[in-house]
Amino acid sequence: MPIVDIHTHVYPPSFMALLRSRTSVPYVREFPDNPSAGSRLVILPAEDTASNSRGRPVGPEYYDIKEKIAFMDIHKIDISVISLANPWLDFLPSKQAAETARRVNDDVERMCGEYPGRLYAFGTLPLSAPATDVEEEIERLGTLKHMRGVIMGTSGLGSGLDDPALDPVYEALEKTGQLVFLHPHYGLPNSVYGPRASNYGHVLPLALGFPLETTIAVTRMLLSGVFDRVPKLKVLLAHSGGTLPFLAGRIESCVAHDAHLKKEGKMANHRSVWSVLKENIYLDAVIYSHVALKAAIDTSGSDGIMFGTDHPFFPPLEEGEKEWLSFRTNYQAITTALGEDQKQADMVLGGNAMKILGLAG
Ligand code: URA
Ligand code: ZN
Repeated sequence: MPIVDIHTHVYPPSFMALLRSRTSVPYVREFPDNPSAGSRLVILPAEDTASNSRGRPVGPEYYDIKEKIAFMDIHKIDISVISLANPWLDFLPSKQAAETARRVNDDVERMCGEYPGRLYAFGTLPLSAPATDVEEEIERLGTLKHMRGVIMGTSGLGSGLDDPALDPVYEALEKTGQLVFLHPHYGLPNSVYGPRASNYGHVLPLALGFPLETTIAVTRMLLSGVFDRVPKLKVLLAHSGGTLPFLAGRIESCVAHDAHLKKEGKMANHRSVWSVLKENIYLDAVIYSHVALKAAIDTSGSDGIMFGTDHPFFPPLEEGEKEWLSFRTNYQAITTALGEDQKQADMVLGGNAMKILGLAG
């Protein structure tokens, strides 16, 4: 059974050029007072504190597709489903968005074509453009050979994923059979990290801000009835759904005990959180622990979980380490969580992705 990595990012050359041309976040630049630090990628809203204002080093592993293939070969990954990394095109002025999306998507499609059978992709949407442009790009992505869905952040058209104006977008995705890979970027407001945030590097925004952002975004979709109106919409949640598998019962219970919602009859015919998690939601296995992975498996079924690495983020910090710790931790979480059940482990490592994303040919 092949090993398939469905959570793995790239900034194609056209997107790198865009980042290099910018002077406000997100951008790539050198810092003249520290030339040995080389090019730095600064993307996160939380990257304005002393310990992380200079982002991270950005080398060819972020943009050179040969490096992706080398990473795959070292780790025996047969197929990768690559996606543009955050913050996608969210920051673009409306007028530029549609054309940039086409350019970036064509760039990614070309990369996939260079390695037949090894690369597929999730496309990017011009979400700051009018919804009709977004729908057009979805239709176009549906015609590209290697595209299997779209990657999206949590901001939607500007006011989140519970915005009714997104319904035509969700419907276009449903109609063309493309899934949404929902991925965080914005985290939580910096104020929650407190006045000593700069002592803690990127840990609070990445370990907690990211998963909570995802959890809140999906819960808003659930509460606003997206999955009732677009019942066949498929969403793949990054980082095993943030904290959704752990909190689904609490969300359901809060709905059941909300007198205001009951009086307004708003939730009367809603599908339950559990049913949406089983029928509409896939979870990646990028959670670094068998404890959380077991909760994800219990929630969406082992046939709804797919292996990922988050490459090229979380590289080894020591020079000369060939196997990445982040890869090993996620791989071992799967083998530990599924114990003796080699068949299920193989499905999570690749079989599920082959089936769900139609990768065989
Ligand atoms: N940091 C990011 O900004 N994105 C990821 O996907 C992982 C870490
Ligand atoms: Zn990621």
